[in-house]
Amino acid sequence: MPDDQEVHKGLEGIIVNETKIGYVDGQKGRLVYRGYDIETLASKSNFEEVSYLLINGKLPSREQFSEFNRKARERMKLPGNVVEFIEKNCGHSHPMSDLRTVVSFLGALDANSNSSDLNLQKSMGEDIIFRMPGIVAAIKRKWEGKSIIEPLPDLGMAANFLYMSSGRKPTEEEEKVMDTCLILHADHGSNASTFSSMVTISTLADMYSALTAGIATLKGPLHGGANEQALKMIKRVGSPENAERVIGEMLGKKEKVMGFGHRVYKVYDPRARILKEFARSISAKSGKQELFETAEAIEKAMISKVGGKGIFPNVDFYSGMVYESLGFEENIFTPIFAFSRSAGWVARSLEYVSDNRLFRPRSKYSGEMGPIEYVPLEKR
Ligand code: CMC
Repeated sequence: MPDDQEVHKGLEGIIVNETKIGYVDGQKGRLVYRGYDIETLASKSNFEEVSYLLINGKLPSREQFSEFNRKARERMKLPGNVVEFIEKNCGHSHPMSDLRTVVSFLGALDANSNSSDLNLQKSMGEDIIFRMPGIVAAIKRKWEGKSIIEPLPDLGMAANFLYMSSGRKPTEEEEKVMDTCLILHADHGSNASTFSSMVTISTLADMYSALTAGIATLKGPLHGGANEQALKMIKRVGSPENAERVIGEMLGKKEKVMGFGHRVYKVYDPRARILKEFARSISAKSGKQELFETAEAIEKAMISKVGGKGIFPNVDFYSGMVYESLGFEENIFTPIFAFSRSAGWVARSLEYVSDNRLFRPRSKYSGEMGPIEYVPLEKR
């Protein structure tokens, strides 16, 4: 047995491909999509434009943008059989399980989904992104026992998502907050779910399969599921005075504090910085200052205890407070993350498969080498 093989658990630090889509500078706390800083896109752009940028490499011209928007608005209305599927089958286990199943179901309905043609993969990918707001909103409504709402033709993806979720046209401010959240979560390097999509597409499977794999991987609490857990934890802590003690107890028991730490960022996550300011202003307006102050006190306790190890708030720490203020229950937070990350999954899957090589890493074997004599069942 070769014993000189180095194991890179969790593929930490391993470069698996070259990309022009996005860059995460974990030491400086910088996030770049196609050369644009995340702060610039968050303040000036919208989710449709960012999706176009991630997929196509450049910001769209006015004609390209209007065509992209036209398709988005057309596809946001879910086909009748998808609505029926959600009505009949969703609302039992977790909205992320529902979302994973519905995206997979879309693939079962698309006769092109057996093709690995690059143009078809791109159009399937765009279709899935455009369908996401309708699907996540429909799943939310199903969980609430409410009827599913069709999109309005004059609203973009962020505003329509809020409208289809609540039945009320959002204010300009609500739309801006939602749009920014979608932009901030749209892409983030070779994270676990993006890698999972890339592995799937590298087998020349279709885009529905790649995105279903991405959603499945995002579900876990170490990845996308952290936003839901983070808000639950902030509520459990209850008030700023409890933060120091509860965090001390959690760290003492070697428990992970959700919404903190990152494999790449060893400084403050730039997305968390933007979301924190949204959370601050929203909590002041909605009379939930104590919740925000509790979160800030948790942040302070964490930084004083483990900041030296490079553990700071990540994107998931403050996003839950923002989503809650927009009227979402905790179990919808990760599906919202999936809606926005669908842009990154599609862009990176397309980039990878256009210069494809099957992912096929190896494992270091540390089991018995034998040969062990086989004992028949009746003699065991
Ligand atoms: N709370 C307490 N301790 C932590 C945390 C945390 N959130 N994160 C890391 N540590 C400690 C960990 O206990 C370990 O300590 P020691 O060296 O004493 O054993 C050290 O830091 C290294 O931790 P690790 O888990 O080996 O590091 P990693 O690179 O695998 O961690 C992580 C990345 C995100 C899995 C981890 O920080 C974590 O579990 N965080 C909580 C879950 C979370 O918020 N996830 C969302 C990540 S950001 C959004 C996304 O990309 O999906």
